Amino acid sequence: MAEHDPVIIAEDLRKVFRVFDRRPGFFGALRDAVDRRYRELVAVDTISLRIHAGECVGYIGPNGAGKSTTIKMLTGILRPSAGTVCVNGFDPQRQRSEYVRTVGAVFGQRTQLWWDLAVSESLELLRRLYRVSMHDFHARMERFDAVLGLSDFLATPVRKLSLGQRMKADLAASLLHNPPVVFLDEPTVGVDVVTKSHLRDFLKSLNQEFRTTFLLTTHDMQDIEHICSRVIVIDHGSIMHDGDIESLKLRYGGRKRLLLRCSRPVRIEDVPQLPWPDMEWQQDSDIELRLIFPADSVTTGALLERLVGALPIADVAIEEPSIERVVQALEHSRPVA
Ligand SMILES: Nc1ncnc2c1ncn2[C@@H]1O[C@H](COP(=O)(O)OP(=O)(O)OP(=O)(O)O)[C@@H](O)[C@H]1O
Ligand SMILES: [Mg+2]
Repeated sequence: MAEHDPVIIAEDLRKVFRVFDRRPGFFGALRDAVDRRYRELVAVDTISLRIHAGECVGYIGPNGAGKSTTIKMLTGILRPSAGTVCVNGFDPQRQRSEYVRTVGAVFGQRTQLWWDLAVSESLELLRRLYRVSMHDFHARMERFDAVLGLSDFLATPVRKLSLGQRMKADLAASLLHNPPVVFLDEPTVGVDVVTKSHLRDFLKSLNQEFRTTFLLTTHDMQDIEHICSRVIVIDHGSIMHDGDIESLKLRYGGRKRLLLRCSRPVRIEDVPQLPWPDMEWQQDSDIELRLIFPADSVTTGALLERLVGALPIADVAIEEPSIERVVQALEHSRPVA
C-alpha cells in the first residue's frame, strides 16, 4: 500500500438480506407455518468509499439507512453480497487475523467484551491478543482513565455495567492497541454530557497525535460537528452526499434563521420590502419576528443593515442550519426551512 493510498476503500459494496416475509393475521401465520415466503432486502445498495489516513468521517442517515451494515462489512463481520473492501491493505474477510490488529471497532448496540469477565480482565486479555507491551498498556490505561474514569468500574463484570460504563469500557478496548483505523458505530449512546465532551476531545487528540482515521456513525449531531471534517450521508442504502459539513448544510439546509426581538409590538406588515428572493417572515409573538432566508444569496450583515433603521430592534439571534434538520429533510426528501 503506497503512502497516499486511501486506508479505507470500498468498491460497489452491496448487502442484500433474505428476510422472512410474514403474512398478516392469524390465517397468515398458519400459512407461514407451512409455506414460508422470503423477500430480498437491500440494506446497502452499491456504494463506494475512499477514506484517507487521518480523516475523521461522519457516516449519518436515518434509522435503517444501512450505516451499521456498511461498518460490519468494512470490519469483516458481514460478508458483502457484492463488491470489494480493502482496509489498511487487507481484505477484512480473507485476511481476518492480520486485519483485526490494525483496526478498532465499537458497536454501541452491543459489547465486544467478555460478558462474565471483569473489565480489567477483558482488557488484559486484549492486551495479550494485540501483543501490547506492559509499558504501553499502562500509559494508555492512564490516559483512558483520565478521560473515561475507568478505574471506578475496572473490577466489575461487564454484564453488570451500566450502558454508559459499558460504552466507556468498549471504547478503551477498541483503542488499546492504538490502531490506525477506528470504526465507531454510535459510540456515545448512553454516555453523559460531560464524558461525551471529554470523549470528543480525546478522539480529536488521537487523530492529531497519531493521524488515526475515524469512521463514525451517530445520531448526536454534536458529535459530527465536533469531530468530523467530512460527512457521508446514506439513505435507503445509497450515498446521498459526501463532502464537508459546510457544503452539506448549503446543499440540504442552506437556509438560516434571523430572530428579531423588538422593543415594541410589530407586525409582519410593518416590515420593509427586501430586495432578495425567498425571504420568508414568521411572527413568533407580538414583539418577535423570524426571517428564514437562503444563506447563499444574502449575508446577515446586509439584511441587518436594511432592518435596523426600519424596525425597533432590541435583540437579534442567528440560527445556523443544523445537521439534524438536514437529516430530517433527507428523510422527507425536500429542502429544509
Ligand atoms: N441481519 C439482518 N437481517 C436482515 N435484515 C437486516 C439485518 N441487519 C440489518 N438489516 C436491515 O437492513 C437495513 C439497514 O440496517 P442497518 O442496521 O444497517 O441500519 P442503520 O443505518 O445502522 O440504522 P440505525 O440508525 O437504526 O442504527 C434495515 O432495514 C435493517 O432492518
Ligand atoms: Mg445502526
